[in-house]
Amino acid sequence: MNNSGWMAELIEVHYACSVLNNTLRTGNLKLTTDNRYLESFPAGHYVLSYIHAVSGTMIQSAPEAVALRPIQIPEHPQWPPLSSEEKSALKARIKHLLQERNAVLVAHYYTDGDLQALAEETGGCVADSLEMARYGSDSSAETLVVCGVRFMGETAKILNPEKRVLMPDLAATCSLDENCPADAFSAFCDRHPDRTVVVYANTSAAVKARADWVVTSGIALPIILYLKARGEKILWAPDKHLGHYLARVTGTDLLLWPGACVVHEEFKSAALERLHRLHPEAAILVHPESPDEIVDQADLVGSTTAMIKAVTSMDNEEFIVATDEGIFWKMQQLAPDKKLIIAPTAGEGATCESCGHCPWMAMNALHNLEQVLRKGDNEIHIDPVLREGAVRPIERMLTFARQHGISGKLPG
Ligand code: 13P
Ligand code: SF4
Repeated sequence: MNNSGWMAELIEVHYACSVLNNTLRTGNLKLTTDNRYLESFPAGHYVLSYIHAVSGTMIQSAPEAVALRPIQIPEHPQWPPLSSEEKSALKARIKHLLQERNAVLVAHYYTDGDLQALAEETGGCVADSLEMARYGSDSSAETLVVCGVRFMGETAKILNPEKRVLMPDLAATCSLDENCPADAFSAFCDRHPDRTVVVYANTSAAVKARADWVVTSGIALPIILYLKARGEKILWAPDKHLGHYLARVTGTDLLLWPGACVVHEEFKSAALERLHRLHPEAAILVHPESPDEIVDQADLVGSTTAMIKAVTSMDNEEFIVATDEGIFWKMQQLAPDKKLIIAPTAGEGATCESCGHCPWMAMNALHNLEQVLRKGDNEIHIDPVLREGAVRPIERMLTFARQHGISGKLPG
């Protein structure tokens, strides 16, 4: 079935649900008119289950046991407080060092607001992981200083081997990356040679080197639809929640690696329902690394860039946001009058991982940025053979993005 046929079926299913059982929530399916894929999916859980049943969506978890080793989740670093004079002086030193080293900042939306502001003030880039990957090749700077997590620095180096890539802290990893060791993943791929291997960008260079495609959240949906139209069956890693979301929205056969993001997995559905009852006019924005029960309550499911665009383009005055709260800096910059509320996590007394802020993104600060620029340490190196394998699936994603006019950039 082609995409438009599939979408027509979804709309029919939606109405059928409303008629069959008026106790079901009658979500208002919104379909994009430009890209022709489902962007927003605010239907209730039962509606979605019914859609799975009638649209024949095949969703598989790994049938054989894949044992994930427990990962160490660090505490959030406590940076020494800075007076406004100290902060200004530190920023001035960083600006000077950036010029001296012919370096540019490439920062993710989850990093500290001071870093995002500095990246913008110094002509760098603040973006989602798709645009961060693309940006490095456009820049004439000799050094890219990637403020984010390790896979973002590695991707920048893989795409720009002639540039120096530095990071404030090389220990800033990601639970998805940690949950997907290359040897176990490679063995998993070997057991399923009939499947096209699609991996999320939040992976190591070695895992990328085993993949046919790399995708970010901003481009995963159209690439999966494209592969589905070619009749391909997919092996997906590492985020099971994003994989599950892609499978049910596209009706594609995805075999899932069982990884998860420790930040997004903490959002709690009953608490979100309660919060929404207190703010009934608020739109719910959800990153697709979140579990199904959170996705099912969303007015928009999308990448960090898609969520920021929603805050600026939707009429709602309030938004409940299920992703890292670092994103509030950019949202508030572009829509200062909108009220933003972080979606509820495990709440009071819960662990560090349930505070709505990625502990590895928190390892980026003005303090260690200045140090890394001054000393020139924390450089990313990628083995040339590994790079050769990893660059192909990343380039494939970027070529697809160019050909289909998909960008992680914000307008303006
Ligand atoms: P985006 O690609 O949407 O920026 O997401 C990256 C990420 O790590 C989300 O947790
Ligand atoms: Fe990884 Fe989750 Fe942190 Fe994103 S928020 S970098 S997926 S651990």
